[in-house]
Amino acid sequence: MIDFHSHILPNIDDGSRSYEESKIILSEAKNAGFDKVISTSHYALNCFETPEYKREDLIEELNSEKGLPTIILGSEIFLNYTIVDLLKEYKASTINKTNYVLFELPLRHQFPNLKITINKLKENNYIPILAHPERYSISHKKFDFLLELKDMGVIFQANYGSILGMYGFGAKLTVKKMFKNNLVDLLGSDVHRPNSIYPNIEKALDKISRISTPSQLDDMTCNTAESILRGEYL
Ligand SMILES: [Fe+2]
Repeated sequence: MIDFHSHILPNIDDGSRSYEESKIILSEAKNAGFDKVISTSHYALNCFETPEYKREDLIEELNSEKGLPTIILGSEIFLNYTIVDLLKEYKASTINKTNYVLFELPLRHQFPNLKITINKLKENNYIPILAHPERYSISHKKFDFLLELKDMGVIFQANYGSILGMYGFGAKLTVKKMFKNNLVDLLGSDVHRPNSIYPNIEKALDKISRISTPSQLDDMTCNTAESILRGEYL
């Protein structure tokens, strides 16, 4: 399986706090059944701004360790009006240097000019992927919000922990509805710490498999991510 969302790199954001901790988290990922983990460190203006080349160096170092999943370059970009510039200047990163871009939104308030900003990404040939759509309060209040983004071509990456209630009741209900409507394209752990989500992946997969078909499950855990890593259009 491919984990599409992780904060696995040490001392880049609020994720792993040391190189040793990154190795521990990665060995948990291996035990949970992941052979590839996409590193999606936060990129947020005035908060987390480690440029691509520095994160690439860390990935190279961790990938030289034996017996751990392969780490792949990416970012989780807190949406802002300069996102295209950040990508073109190799500050923030696309997924595996393709045109796919993982972004997140404020959890509790609406992002002004959201559709205009998404369209700006698309006009520049980027393909937007929304991180954990089920976690935003707007998604809980108005499911149509998600359908509108879907119609714009936004890809949805849900978190494994949501179905387990790790992000509260609203996220749990919303992700269930998304699974039932086949709206989840990709799954990610959004791991920040050891002994958090990875030991619970099996439990999450069990719950998801009750409301998704086996082929949907294969797509969400593996196939769609593989296509994205190859830069193919979905
Ligand atoms: Fe995240």
